[in-house]
Amino acid sequence: MSLTENLADLQQRLNDAIGAAADEQALESVRVAFLGRSGDVTKVRRSIGTLPASERRDAGKAINDAVAAMEARLDEAHAALQARAFESELAASIDVSFPAIPPKLGSIHPVRRIIEQSCAYFAAHGFAVVVGPEAEPDYYNFDALNIPSDHPARESFDSFWLSDTMLLRPHTSPMQIRTMQQHRPPIAIVAPGKCFRRDAVDARHLFQFHQVEGLLVSEGIHFGHLKGMLTGLCRELFGGDQRVRFRPSYFPFTEPSAEVDTTCPKCKAGGTPALRKSPCNMCGGSGWIELGGSGMVHPNVLREVGYDPERYSGWAFGFGVERLGLSRYEVDDIRRFLNSDPDFLTQLS
Ligand code: DAH
Repeated sequence: MSLTENLADLQQRLNDAIGAAADEQALESVRVAFLGRSGDVTKVRRSIGTLPASERRDAGKAINDAVAAMEARLDEAHAALQARAFESELAASIDVSFPAIPPKLGSIHPVRRIIEQSCAYFAAHGFAVVVGPEAEPDYYNFDALNIPSDHPARESFDSFWLSDTMLLRPHTSPMQIRTMQQHRPPIAIVAPGKCFRRDAVDARHLFQFHQVEGLLVSEGIHFGHLKGMLTGLCRELFGGDQRVRFRPSYFPFTEPSAEVDTTCPKCKAGGTPALRKSPCNMCGGSGWIELGGSGMVHPNVLREVGYDPERYSGWAFGFGVERLGLSRYEVDDIRRFLNSDPDFLTQLS
């Protein structure tokens, strides 16, 4: 076959192959078979070497012209295939009344919701919301809070140490010190955030959890102010006419110190003995559930930040947010707050 015949044959075969290509993928295979690196055209090009030198120039030009024509033919076929696909898409009938697939919307996590609600309550009473570091030197976690290095209370805050002096904070109380060091009284803050403790995880304990800390320091602050604010917070979070109860306790950074309980949100018994007869699986029949610790800021803590304890007094508290969530949502296992199970979270959204 002469070169001219060869090229004519190639173009004829290309046309046949294009005619048989049903989609863009098939068309691409055709392009590769003819014009690709080891395609048919390449073979023809190689044959130029066998021609006498005087004919090579014309042969090269003939091949280039043929290739240009073949490329144009492929482009044309490609455009035709695309147009055909578009036409058939347009022709498909769409039922616009068919119900849409509902989008899956996220929701605020219950822990975040409790934090936001608590902060909003305090902010409405003039408190500032402050956040601080989750890794703190032992000075802020302990020493400044009247817990010297040999104090047995350190044991109950045992945590994850990052170095000899830095640890993941076991409570949000360091924010009391950080705030008081930076500002003069009056101080009114809430400090929400993550805390870490080397606790074994079970239905009521997590090694990573959240607290909301509160601090009010000014002249003439007394325990009644604490009781009023915490009663208001409980009514905000649990509704109704929640009551609070203080049980004597011990924290090195407060004196006196108290554990705070509120009316069991499930049986609502609280201090009403008549209601307390039937056993309740939320409060164990006591009528109360525990929220956290509180007390009047210890004079040593005020002295540490340069406040005169003769002039200033204050209260503080720290509540566990997941614990609040357990009773607020009647959840059986605190680990559910960490598991990110959409079935659980959407029920509380
Ligand atoms: N920081 C304490 C804890 O995590 C809770 C606490 C108790 C905070 C008394 C306070 C307070 O601010 O006054 O166990």
